[in-house]
Amino acid sequence: MIVLGLNAFGQNPSACLVIDGKLIAFSHEERFNRLKGLHGLFPAYALRWCLSSTGLDIRDVDKIAINWDCTKYPFRIMRNLAGIAVKNGFSSAKYNSKGDISGDGFGGVLNYLNLYRPANYQSMIHSAMREIGIRDKLPEVVYVNHHLSHAYQAYHQSGFNDALVLVADGHGEDSCVSGYVVRKGKFSRVLQYPVPYSLGWFYGGFTSYLGFYANRDEGKLMGLAAYGEKNKDNNPWLQRLERILKINDKGFELDPYFFKMGSNYHHPRYTDALVNFLGSYDPNLRPVYPGEKAFLNGEQVNRYLLPEYIDLAYAVQSKLEEALLSLVKYLRRQYPIPKLCLAGGGFMNCKANYLISTLPGIDELFIHPAASDDGSAIGAAYWVSEQLGAKLGDPLKNVQYGASFSNDEIKKALSNYGLNFQAMDDPAGIASKLLAKGKIIGWFQGSAEMGARALGGRSIVAIPANNGIKDKINSQVKFRESWRPYCPSLPAEEASEYLSGDKSLPYMIKADIATELLAAKAPATVHIDKTIRPQTVEKDILPLWHRLITETGKLTGVPIILNTSFNIQGEPIVNSPNDAIRTFFSSGLDSLIIGNYLVSKKSSRTE
Ligand SMILES: [Fe+2]
Repeated sequence: MIVLGLNAFGQNPSACLVIDGKLIAFSHEERFNRLKGLHGLFPAYALRWCLSSTGLDIRDVDKIAINWDCTKYPFRIMRNLAGIAVKNGFSSAKYNSKGDISGDGFGGVLNYLNLYRPANYQSMIHSAMREIGIRDKLPEVVYVNHHLSHAYQAYHQSGFNDALVLVADGHGEDSCVSGYVVRKGKFSRVLQYPVPYSLGWFYGGFTSYLGFYANRDEGKLMGLAAYGEKNKDNNPWLQRLERILKINDKGFELDPYFFKMGSNYHHPRYTDALVNFLGSYDPNLRPVYPGEKAFLNGEQVNRYLLPEYIDLAYAVQSKLEEALLSLVKYLRRQYPIPKLCLAGGGFMNCKANYLISTLPGIDELFIHPAASDDGSAIGAAYWVSEQLGAKLGDPLKNVQYGASFSNDEIKKALSNYGLNFQAMDDPAGIASKLLAKGKIIGWFQGSAEMGARALGGRSIVAIPANNGIKDKINSQVKFRESWRPYCPSLPAEEASEYLSGDKSLPYMIKADIATELLAAKAPATVHIDKTIRPQTVEKDILPLWHRLITETGKLTGVPIILNTSFNIQGEPIVNSPNDAIRTFFSSGLDSLIIGNYLVSKKSSRTE
């Protein structure tokens, strides 16, 4: 049976195909439409690719699965919000100004309610299908509970039998956090935080406050927070933020009126109450607008790099970590099951994931590498497949489920641009020699990855032997902020030599603390707080990627490469040969290894 899973009109639209309970194809819409982090769209290109790449037609699809149960959404959320408003009496009201703009808050919720009315939603799907030329009668659309979609995705790709599953994101139909006990595939929800008690809104609100884009740049807040480590003992916000997010032994208490409910003159992601609350302690700590600069020690820097914002970022990250740790500990105390799955956008936070992995009583931990709403389309498709009688259980081995291109297609693309290129029998061998000479390479091989990380299909690679290479890639290749870290990829068989904790980290979804050896040999992959976000590579799962790293190690003496996604600032990861060629020639990359072809630049980059 064939189920088309869709994450439509929400965050990071995506489509997937599940056949007989197994994931066959997956893609983010942004990889095709080239609009990074643009939410609210229908995944038209991704859907079309899912069908065309598998030789299927919409008439072959048995059901369409949607990762959102809009049949329950309006009633539940209205009931929750009304009950909470009455019960709490607008608890942060004293911080609210008399702003005359209330764009998100209740107003935003009402807009959502209209969008997600079943009739409206179904009609939007049908219209979108017609727009991309699908005019056949559509299969039945089945709406699946949002958090259950996240949970199904993580659990059924974990390979676990009995497990706990914790979901934390912005929000589902009626929940912001859900905990499940799963025994032999049977799910029981045992924990729920209703809308609007959202850790996603908390973290996203501060992401916006610092001048980043919520639902896209949360990783930047996490990376920035690390710079606050050195001042943690004097950080005033660790205590002050308890007014907003207070941790208890069952999880947390959150005052939602700082984020969504109330006047929001400054930004739809946080209310005036938050601006007034932070400003009451430090008037200089006003909201940062994207790209805003300030002077620090006589130098112009991004405003969020001022010490007071870094302290705030550190405290926000710490509060999120404490809340997630408390939730896991509570769940684990209640239910003595030592296997844990984590899903939902809250668990794209690899630092928090690392701390969770260190908790006693968790023997095995699975965090889905596409933990955000994009990946939950898979869970919805699994759920519908199960209803149709499929036997589930589809342990994840790699993330290469996206678009792939033959050498003939690549050669045609290179020829269309009139480029000089060289055919190779051994792309990993050639690339390793270039890397050993200090070159920065665009690596395009096989299928594109699902999730936010490049894991050997669409990567930019270099030797991480000194911090100079990091600065060079930041400033000349990716054009991104100088303070952001890069990641190490290393063969799984070398993990015990270079890693201190978990030796199997295939997805860059969980951080680790750098060993002295790794910090000495690959300093460009170590963040300011000594954390790393490694990828361990199994030879039998990703043989070409494994060979690239091992061959490079033979030449440099260190089997570790710096690996970052093949894109430049603000753009999605490259998907097609055309994307790779354009990115190659609009950045400071030295060489492009694409399929069995090598492309080089005639003029060398200015050092
Ligand atoms: Fe979600």
